[in-house]
Amino acid sequence: MVVTPISLRQAALLPLLESHAVRKAQLALAIDTRLPVSAQEAIPNPGGIPGRPDRPILVAHTEMRHLSLATLEGRAALVHSIAHIELNAIDLALDVVWRFAGMPDAFYLDWVQIAKEEAKHFLLLQKHLQSLGFDYGDFPAHHALWQMAERTQSDLLARIGLVPRTLEARGLDASPGVKNKLVSAGDMVAGQILDIILEEEIGHVAAGNRWYRFICQERGLDPISTYSELIQTYKAPKLRAPYNLEARRKAGFEEEELNRLGE
Ligand SMILES: [Fe+2]
Ligand SMILES: [Fe+2]
Repeated sequence: MVVTPISLRQAALLPLLESHAVRKAQLALAIDTRLPVSAQEAIPNPGGIPGRPDRPILVAHTEMRHLSLATLEGRAALVHSIAHIELNAIDLALDVVWRFAGMPDAFYLDWVQIAKEEAKHFLLLQKHLQSLGFDYGDFPAHHALWQMAERTQSDLLARIGLVPRTLEARGLDASPGVKNKLVSAGDMVAGQILDIILEEEIGHVAAGNRWYRFICQERGLDPISTYSELIQTYKAPKLRAPYNLEARRKAGFEEEELNRLGE
């Protein structure tokens, strides 16, 4: 029996619990944003979050094998790793919507919109992967993104500080290099997809910055020193140059924050 969600925040659970990757993306795209948000509702954890397919097998970040981009398999593996990040990003955005009550309606609408864009990114990459003769699940993948979601599940400030404005911002830094590799190896389509993704990811990081500052202000915290504390407390991965300063500026990082990158 399919239960019709009565609020936007509950509606986020449907794709989040879905284990089939393509169906997850389609369900995220189908969330009806006209539903009442129900911002104050405490939604019980239904268990089984996130729903994930049996494949890809998950390995430690350090155990990922890097294949040569001179081969079709190597290029497909790289496209697969980005598709995997996008699939995680759908879940990460949806998890914020149901889990954390008490924010303004605009907050939840932002994160549903982000989940829909992540779903679009995943489907673009999955389709491209199929055109290369592979599919999502054909290569191993790592679990690092969702691990940060688990670590930050009891504090919204930590979640927003460390997922969108740290891990997703790291994606902004990585994007030009990855695009360059794929285009140099002759994959122009992947290059075009990465351009679309980068543009929208700037918006996601911008939402992260906006709401991070909103929560800091509500709690009377200094955004910059609080960020250093979050990085230490939650053992966030260290950022490494080169940074995409142009994209980071567009996403609303302040000069002082840019000067402190990698500290
Ligand atoms: Fe994305
Ligand atoms: Fe994103």
